[in-house]
Amino acid sequence: MPKIKIAPSILSANQAKLQEEINEIEDFSDLLQVDVMDNIFVPNITPQAELLKKFSTKVPLDIHFMVKEPSNDYIKSFINANKKLKINNITVHQEACKNLKKTLNFIKKNKIKAAVAINPQTSLNKIKSVLNKVDMVLIMTVEPGFSGQKFIESTLTKVKELRKLKPDMDIEVDGGINDKTAPLAVKAGANILVASSFIFKSDDKIKAIKKIRDAVKK
Ligand code: DX5
Repeated sequence: MPKIKIAPSILSANQAKLQEEINEIEDFSDLLQVDVMDNIFVPNITPQAELLKKFSTKVPLDIHFMVKEPSNDYIKSFINANKKLKINNITVHQEACKNLKKTLNFIKKNKIKAAVAINPQTSLNKIKSVLNKVDMVLIMTVEPGFSGQKFIESTLTKVKELRKLKPDMDIEVDGGINDKTAPLAVKAGANILVASSFIFKSDDKIKAIKKIRDAVKK
């Protein structure tokens, strides 16, 4: 299995103190997840590409589009928003893209890793045809849209199945990750753990990250 990585999601960070909060955790984070919502694919909205102008970090970004039909221009607007940031990957939802292959190819053409996400109700079969194209699969462990929801354990069946199919692939989980659920996800085969409220709503953010790291070592 590839190396375990922790990706704090800035969704539940204090947006008024965003830079300060990112500075606090960056030495302890492998990736920083930026959630992008359009109020169409999910019933919530975030700033679009201009969000990337609001902070800087040395940590590579994991951009999660919860967006219906992200066009090439839309994707480009993120890539060009802040050249000081390093974008590791852009993740798009299977459920949101009619021509998933084309969207993934466009991301890759820009020398950015392309990833596909599936909602809790979406079966792995829906992405089997792109598994050889993607650099990462995100198995959502809550319904996308909001931080602070309860981890849906049944989604781990898909993680297990995918890990069997792809022993070396990056498999990410997102939603309800904390020091109790992270070990379950890792045991199932996930290696990239996104956590938002557990880290950013905690009194000690660094300690929260360490708690996840320690829990998955056991
Ligand atoms: C959910 C987002 C998540 C969310 C996770 O739509 O994709 O990244 O911020 O939040 P927690 O860790 O609080 O469940």
